[in-house]
Amino acid sequence: MTFITGSKETFLNADHKEAMEFLMIVSDITAADAYAELKKYVHHKTTNRYQHCLNVAWYSYLWAKNAGLDYRSAARGAMLHDFYLYDTKEFRLSGMNHNIVHPRIALKNARMFFDVNPVMEDCIVHHMWPSGIGSPVTMEGAIVSAADKYCASLEWGLGRAGQIVPVIRAISRSIRN
Ligand SMILES: [Fe+2]
Ligand SMILES: [Fe+2]
Repeated sequence: MTFITGSKETFLNADHKEAMEFLMIVSDITAADAYAELKKYVHHKTTNRYQHCLNVAWYSYLWAKNAGLDYRSAARGAMLHDFYLYDTKEFRLSGMNHNIVHPRIALKNARMFFDVNPVMEDCIVHHMWPSGIGSPVTMEGAIVSAADKYCASLEWGLGRAGQIVPVIRAISRSIRN
């Protein structure tokens, strides 16, 4: 089942106009075998890179649409913003700055498989702002950068919640005893 972290959206309601429109916008990307490879890579400890990109794309789509922007390019750029196919931990052993390198690799991969317009390019290349390689030059790029941080917080938070709950249970048990 398709879902979005931090949202009740499941894309099962065919009457939900925005959910169906979003699926149409990204369907060729999710259908690509190379893109499905992203499911193999753990991302932010609690999820995989495919789910993370889908999360960022859904929020970017909603925020860009509500703001009257190019929501199609925002959604597609967000889908492709972390389109790199290797383990981040292994890359870091190289000593290179991953924040700078991976947006460029994602753009190269995106161009290999899909048409990338200038707005999508901005969304991909500048999503790491304020770290990475420069700031977004479009509102859609700024939205994807913000959605990336929002989703990363949700995803990391899930992991932290998993660690904190056993501690709280142990404390409450000791208080009761
Ligand atoms: Fe990234
Ligand atoms: Fe990301």
